[in-house]
Amino acid sequence: MTKRIAVIPGDGIGPEVARAGVRVLETLAKKRNLALAFDWFDYGAERYLRDGTTLPDADIENLRSYDAIFFGAVGDPRVPGGEHARDILLGLRFKLDLYVNFRPCKLYDDSLSPLKGKGQKELDFVIFRENTEGLYTGAGGVFKKGTLDEIAIEEDINTRKGVERIIRAAFAYASERGLKRVCMADKANAMQHSGGLWRRTFSLVKAQYPQIESSVMYIDALAMDLVRRPERYQVIVTGNLFGDIITDLGAALTGGLGLAASANLHPGRLGLFEPVHGSAPDIVGKEQANPLAMCLTGALMLRHLHYPAEATLLEECVARCVREGLRTPDLGGTKRTGEVEARLIQLLEIA
Ligand code: NAD
Ligand code: IPM
Ligand code: MN
Repeated sequence: MTKRIAVIPGDGIGPEVARAGVRVLETLAKKRNLALAFDWFDYGAERYLRDGTTLPDADIENLRSYDAIFFGAVGDPRVPGGEHARDILLGLRFKLDLYVNFRPCKLYDDSLSPLKGKGQKELDFVIFRENTEGLYTGAGGVFKKGTLDEIAIEEDINTRKGVERIIRAAFAYASERGLKRVCMADKANAMQHSGGLWRRTFSLVKAQYPQIESSVMYIDALAMDLVRRPERYQVIVTGNLFGDIITDLGAALTGGLGLAASANLHPGRLGLFEPVHGSAPDIVGKEQANPLAMCLTGALMLRHLHYPAEATLLEECVARCVREGLRTPDLGGTKRTGEVEARLIQLLEIA
């Protein structure tokens, strides 16, 4: 059965890395006889500026018929409010109810570690970021806008259902892989209402996993400890905004945004696969974008599409590229996007 993949390259370096990612996946598909079909969609700033459309509801219905969405990045300086990006990216996450934002933080080569004495053995954890509520729902509003009396309210929405399902997903992941530790991070000392719900729910779920050592931390302390003792962490679960911030930190600990992959999931449904990075307007068109985050994102997608061996092969070839010094400027190298892509394709062909 052909797996149908909707490609949304988006803005900035999104198209540069999406092109590379799809060519890499096509190479792998050809070599291993995987039936993958890619359809391209033009949602992004260009289209928004042209005709005002972002992501029409009817298109969401069409996207539901795919097996996966492979997404570059959105965000464009010509749309300073970022409204199209919110509509498209948050629209997909919310409307498809992709409540798990799964972001692995794994060091692919010791030389990429920014931490003294911490290498591949110490830097290998995953973050489960809640992806459908928290401070991201847009609930709230402004009053007396533009005046000195302006009031801006951004509501932090935490539902029992939403909190429980992301915590369950984190424990299930740990349990299925024989991992020993799950850490939940919040800010319950300052935010008692949401914190209380998260802590009570965490206690309830963890009781069903007595073999797993669980801990609860304040997010600020976790940020510090991830830098100090990253080896203590295997699975971290947290809310939407804290998860956004801590996953950029996780990326920085493991080679940077040029290597950070993510998957937006709802078990049993189609997933949305995107690198953690954005559209990087500062390097667009310069052939400096690292395509490897997108390729590792492709590996997450392959695993989700039940091609685990191919996913692992792709990850191994990415690691080999990095080890060989096929590095774009973000990794301290001088290679161009196309050179990294070409070598990765070559490694896959000879694998
Ligand atoms: P960014 O991730 O785009 O860039 C941050 C820094 O990392 C920049 O210096 C950039 O050059 C570098 N960088 C990012 N990806 C890289 C790659 N693949 N290779 C080499 N260097 C890379 O974050 P930002 O600058 O805060 O945001 C730019 C735009 O992207 C904004 O509009 C933002 O809202 C949007 N954004 C979108 C997504 C997404 O679509 N998933 C994620 C984050 C930010
Ligand atoms: C990410 C991005 C998005 C987020 C932005 C672009 C809304 O930073 O995917 O990490 O905050 O979720
Ligand atoms: Mn982010």
